[in-house]
Amino acid sequence: NNTVKVGLMGLGTVGTGVVRIVQGHQEDLQKQTGLAIEIAKVLVQDLEKERNLKLDRHMITTDASELFDNPDIDVIIEVIGGIHPAKEYILQALENGKHIVTANKDLMALHGAEILSKAQEKGCDVFYEASVAGGIPILRALVEGFASDRITKMMGIVNGTTNYIMTKMSQEGADYSAVLKEAQALGYAEADPTADVEGHDAARKMAILSTLGFHVDMSLEDVDCKGISEVTAEDIAYAKKLGYEIKLLGIAQRDDDLIEVSVQPTLIHHTHPLASVNGVFNAIYVHGEAVGETMFYGPGAGELPTATAVVSDLVTVVKNMKLGVNGRGSVAPYREKHLKTDDQ
Ligand code: NAP
Ligand code: HSE
Repeated sequence: NNTVKVGLMGLGTVGTGVVRIVQGHQEDLQKQTGLAIEIAKVLVQDLEKERNLKLDRHMITTDASELFDNPDIDVIIEVIGGIHPAKEYILQALENGKHIVTANKDLMALHGAEILSKAQEKGCDVFYEASVAGGIPILRALVEGFASDRITKMMGIVNGTTNYIMTKMSQEGADYSAVLKEAQALGYAEADPTADVEGHDAARKMAILSTLGFHVDMSLEDVDCKGISEVTAEDIAYAKKLGYEIKLLGIAQRDDDLIEVSVQPTLIHHTHPLASVNGVFNAIYVHGEAVGETMFYGPGAGELPTATAVVSDLVTVVKNMKLGVNGRGSVAPYREKHLKTDDQ
């Protein structure tokens, strides 16, 4: 069979982008994989919702089993978000031998080890590039690009919504609640934007980066986290007067086996490159013992940037299918618990 059939769970911001890219880049995708990729079934919550995308009515369902129990479907893309029922759907899909691509940082930060272990048991792929920093291929860079090095520090802006808010407040004196609404309308914010503004979304991303970058099982509860909800327009204006921008910064560093991970609003001097990372853009510094300092920059949220990460993962799954090597990349993180400075 020359066609790989995909079940898409979720047709919101990211799901819509996935359909657009799979349809719009079909020829390029086929050139790379040697196979046609077809979105065969799409799971939504509300069948009657108006959508700015034309799909045949028979393709859309509210019954997840039509995706994970369908023997013709090889790959499930999960972009519904949240823990439940996403976790149950993914575990059932893996049980049925489907490969998984997900953008779900909540799920991967909290239950990644369980999902990856199940994938390993079943010989399935699980990829989740879109879960951190939207369109920036940072997870691939950590797992493959820095495989030979020892990463000592990762630092940067990993939440697009809060960076969009802080930029608009700093540059235009915009009102916090009004800009948050704009970020929601643009599809940048989480379903519950508290996760963005309280720093939880960034903390989940820093936990994933630390797990992959430091080869430890980094728990979310070990990430010290403070968001931007208490940062006022006056704080931003005063910082600016002194030559600083306030950015929500994630920092993960290790010294031997001691690892510290935090997320907090931070003063950054205007001459530092992170001070000019504006709007929905993210940037991450990765410092390796051998390579020294590197920096990754790009759109951290939004329909098409995030969907590129999802569809690139899909391409990897399809290439693996062609080579018969699925499951080899879905290694569970090291089970050693890291030592935190506070534990000493
Ligand atoms: P969204 O716009 O809210 O879309 C969610 C979709 O999932 C909707 O189509 C919704 O159906 C469907 N859905 C939700 N709960 C469901 C359920 N219980 N059963 C069936 N369908 C359900 O969300 P999104 O912004 O695309 O985000 C999706 C995931 O990607 C999240 O994990 C998010 O953290 C992650 N992510 C998002 C971005 C971004 O820029 N938005 C970037 C990176 C990662 P209806 O359409 O019928 O309501
Ligand atoms: N809500 C997230 C953000 C989406 O604003 O960064 C991308 O992960």
